[in-house]
Amino acid sequence: MAESIANGERRSSLHGHWSSRVAFILAVTGSAVGLGNIWKFPYMAGVNGGGAFVLIYLGCVLIVGLPIMMAEIMIGRRGRRNPVATMQILGEEEAGQTAWGLVGLMGVMAGFIILSFYSVIAGWTVAYTFKAAANEFAQQDAATLSAAFGAFVANPLITGAWHTLFMAVTVSLVALGVERGLEKAVRLMVPALLVLLGYAINSGSFGAGVEFLFRPDFSKVSGAMVLAAMGQAFFTLSVGMGAIMAYGAYLPQEASIAQTSIAVVLADTSIAILAGLVIFPIVFANGLDPAEGPGLIFQTLPLAFGQLPGGSVFGTLFFVLLAFAALTSAISLMEPAVAWMVESRRLSRPVSAVIVGIIIWLLGFLTVLSFSNLKDFKFLKGTLFDNFDYLTSNLMLPLGGLLITVFAGWVMCGNSSSDELDPAAGYVYRTWHFLTRYVAPVAVVLVFLNAIGVFEP
Ligand code: PFF
Repeated sequence: MAESIANGERRSSLHGHWSSRVAFILAVTGSAVGLGNIWKFPYMAGVNGGGAFVLIYLGCVLIVGLPIMMAEIMIGRRGRRNPVATMQILGEEEAGQTAWGLVGLMGVMAGFIILSFYSVIAGWTVAYTFKAAANEFAQQDAATLSAAFGAFVANPLITGAWHTLFMAVTVSLVALGVERGLEKAVRLMVPALLVLLGYAINSGSFGAGVEFLFRPDFSKVSGAMVLAAMGQAFFTLSVGMGAIMAYGAYLPQEASIAQTSIAVVLADTSIAILAGLVIFPIVFANGLDPAEGPGLIFQTLPLAFGQLPGGSVFGTLFFVLLAFAALTSAISLMEPAVAWMVESRRLSRPVSAVIVGIIIWLLGFLTVLSFSNLKDFKFLKGTLFDNFDYLTSNLMLPLGGLLITVFAGWVMCGNSSSDELDPAAGYVYRTWHFLTRYVAPVAVVLVFLNAIGVFEP
């Protein structure tokens, strides 16, 4: 981040500004692209039956996710503070309502919970880097690799250690304020996925994979499934909890919010689809279960690396890239909490990062245990991780997003939002304003009501 630039009577950020629009796009893409695209999207699509889920997810990205991303950046840049203070200050300024700060606070809490399990899964990818490097996947069959994955996650000492390492690196980078340079991993992710796509095309089941992903079977649609698809849209775009708002606070005044958001959403969505196109052909070619769950990529990708020439080197590279992509997302998951502590508690950035990091690290052991096989913790098995994921992706992020759209579309006066958002291109603003006022909030409410069965006969 470059030095803070003065911009007339507008507020400026207390943490400096991004050096350019490109730096900002890379940071937001770094936040959006992560485990959500490569790990979560394929397994959620698998569990929820494929095509129909994918279609609803794409719809949610476009009519809910994109306008909320624009709203978050707009609010962040207008307020130029951490999400809690920004919502409070703007609420007070625009409507005399300070309670909006609570939306920021809910986001801070969502960030804690998400990162607690995110870090554990990121730890798995770091561990798999070493397994790939040791050539453990060479010529193994699906059953062996699945059993190896089961044994790996069952051991809380090992997965806990990788989780600890990942959190330590995340905290160090947040403490130092490092972001630039890491985003290169996200750019390399696409060529790496394209190589894997080549393998998937030759797997003999590419057609079956494409069909699973793109042919909607509407008999699979249910309230819970639509909610899961919407939750996935929020999770993958990092919206609904203030992460993007925190980054928006550092955005130079002249950068276009609409162009930036569209670029990020396109990149994020293409990477998820690409991951799906890689995973499902491997699933069907090897007689695996698409509804395998959170272990899906750890049971399919090693098959590809085990068979590809140079698969050990390539597999190592791939899992390293994935760990880096997870790292840039993890940094953004901590940013609202850390910026909030720095600004309101007057703590230094390193101290705030360490405090936030320790709480999240401890919380992460609940996820470690919920995948483990320890007899005393059998009661946690599977349930805690699922509940954390459900609570954040399906409830907290959409609720946060809903409140953000209401704030941006109804509480902020049109003048201040149109002033921030491309005053030159009126139709961009009008489209956004319509989506934010009516479409996105109504969609979220309908999905919630539908999930609790209000529309069932
Ligand atoms: N968008 C990230 C991913 O897809 O991996 C996860 C994430 C990051 C969610 C930041 C929420 C957030 F605020």
